[in-house]
Amino acid sequence: MENNINTRFTSAFEEDVYNGLTSYPKHLSSKYFYDKKGDKLFQDIMNLPEYYLTNCEYNILATNTQKIAEAFAGPNGFDLIELGAGDGKKTKLLLRYLIDKKINFDYLPVDISQNALDELEGSLKKELPTVSVKTQQGTYLKTLERLSDYNSRKKVILVLGSNIGNLLHEDAIDFLKKIQDAMSPDDMLFMGFDQKKNPQTILDAYNDPTGVTEAFNKNVLERINNELDGNFDLNSFFHWETYNPETGTAKSFLISREKQAVTINNLDLTVNFEAWESIHTEISQKYDDMIVEWLASQADLKVTDSFTDEKDFYKNYIFRKK
Ligand code: AVI
Repeated sequence: MENNINTRFTSAFEEDVYNGLTSYPKHLSSKYFYDKKGDKLFQDIMNLPEYYLTNCEYNILATNTQKIAEAFAGPNGFDLIELGAGDGKKTKLLLRYLIDKKINFDYLPVDISQNALDELEGSLKKELPTVSVKTQQGTYLKTLERLSDYNSRKKVILVLGSNIGNLLHEDAIDFLKKIQDAMSPDDMLFMGFDQKKNPQTILDAYNDPTGVTEAFNKNVLERINNELDGNFDLNSFFHWETYNPETGTAKSFLISREKQAVTINNLDLTVNFEAWESIHTEISQKYDDMIVEWLASQADLKVTDSFTDEKDFYKNYIFRKK
């Protein structure tokens, strides 16, 4: 997308918003939730008692630190490349262990948000000053293109937080394929996948009573208002979550409470909404071993190990090239 912006638009955001809001049914991409405010709201989500994903993954890493670190280590050290690093809270568990054991590695966190990277670098300087850190700002896509440049020693690619769940299977396979392409036979991919479970637990995780998830979802409308001179009335939309236990797909929507017209000046666009019309904004896919193995095989990867929490809510898998 980024390389292919139609001349009528000045950014991928403009083009995606135009296409999404002139489609039927309407949709907007969850990647636009994340600006400074969205990053902060996502931090708040990760601290919600209902949003079990973060604690489950933290516990998995805390319980299996030694095993995971040993799997990462290579004869000449290794490069630890984290895609979507965020605040690095979970990764710091591993970093601390690797430093204590004097294992030789460089940490290369990648994130779309420069703000998140600056905060991460600042906190690492204080908490783990001896870690060699090289941050990289960019989208997954751009980073994946540069991934194969790291080929002088073993590399471990880290994708935590079930971030892959925000992609449709087709896009997830594409993403895994690109990682696989950049991997050498000794390299590893360590990735978190939220698991299928009681549908109510999943709905609760995406429907908190304090309204943080709602504000996060609506942040895409706020960005349209601020960045594209739109006039969405945020109170006339509400957050709606669904979960299909058959497919394992949780979906977030924004629903218009009334018939209304919204103008977006920078796009010369008026968008008409019927009462109860939806904008689909996010998918959060849930997995089981069968789906993960299928995704891996489609991308010429194989699962070589996995780690789970005591409730089997969440799993981290190690993948290698087939
Ligand atoms: C970043 N991503 C994996 C989160 C998820 O669970 O889909 C984003 C999120 N959306 C609502 N709550 C959290």
